[in-house]
Amino acid sequence: MRQSSQISKLTALRASFAALSIFALFSVSGMANAADSAPMAAPAAEAKAPVASGKPAIDPVLGEALYNAGDSSRGVVACITCHGPKGQSAVGTWPKLAAQHAAYITKQLSNFKDGSRANPIMMGMAATLTPQDMANISAYLSKQAPSEGVAQNKDTIELGRSIYRGGIASKGVPACAGCHSPNGAGIPAQYPRQGGQWAEYNNAQLIAFREGVRKNSMQMTMVATKLSDQEMKAVADYMAGLH
Ligand code: HEC
Ligand code: HEC
Repeated sequence: MRQSSQISKLTALRASFAALSIFALFSVSGMANAADSAPMAAPAAEAKAPVASGKPAIDPVLGEALYNAGDSSRGVVACITCHGPKGQSAVGTWPKLAAQHAAYITKQLSNFKDGSRANPIMMGMAATLTPQDMANISAYLSKQAPSEGVAQNKDTIELGRSIYRGGIASKGVPACAGCHSPNGAGIPAQYPRQGGQWAEYNNAQLIAFREGVRKNSMQMTMVATKLSDQEMKAVADYMAGLH
């Protein structure tokens, strides 16, 4: 009895991993096609979908091992070197990855690989990863505790807050909160978590969208082209303290 109930637990676990992997595949291809449609009702991203067999299961334990140690036989560099233990990086040039949505991480890794997000360091890192590695690492990172940060600049916090919460009506800038959620947790699977992210990193991304270095989101290119340097800095600093 006991044994069979353990077996059925195991089977249920496997099944849910398989379901997750299918979900990840769908959301990635869905994003590629409908890359930038209007904000959609949030799909039940982390929900357990019905079982389907024959797909490789997503394995966060393998993802954790690859994240922490890399794989020198395949030239995979340990992500922890820059992104820190459990996705909590130590400096603002390297983004925090803790508690980021799995489908978003997978999308970024494939965008680095296909060049629609041009960053010399991460293009090299992503080139060594298979789709299965990406899914495994994303599953591991999405389960880590979110990072907390603080806004540093008292002088711009009101400007940052008003842009984040209400946008800038006179310039047609939409409220960031509409897609990234009021507390910065994002909305799975499309809209990334922002709360606690380094201001320096987020500011650099807004510039990259505006300058066309990061070409993987029409929505964000449209938002960023309307923001001044000062507005970008203010909202990036405000987001660092959101939780
Ligand atoms: C040498 C340092 C370094 C290593 C090692 C490294 N990264 Fe990165 N990573 C970066 C930098 C720098 C960026 C920001 C790139 C940019 O500005 O677009 C980044 C960005 C990312 C992003 C995008 C985050 C976001 O919020 O959009 C993901 C995902 C990521 N890295 C995953 C990984 C994974 C997985 C590994 C290991 C296989 C890895 N990185 C190894 C430096 C590194
Ligand atoms: C219509 C929805 C929408 C709105 C409004 C929006 N964003 Fe985004 N944002 C996105 C999406 C989608 C992505 C992920 C793009 C991708 O897949 O690479 C993103 C990504 C980002 C990133 C990169 C995050 C990372 O980890 O690399 C930053 C920074 C950002 N948004 C800031 C903002 C700010 C600031 C505002 C308000 C001025 C804003 N966004 C408004 C949809 C939106």
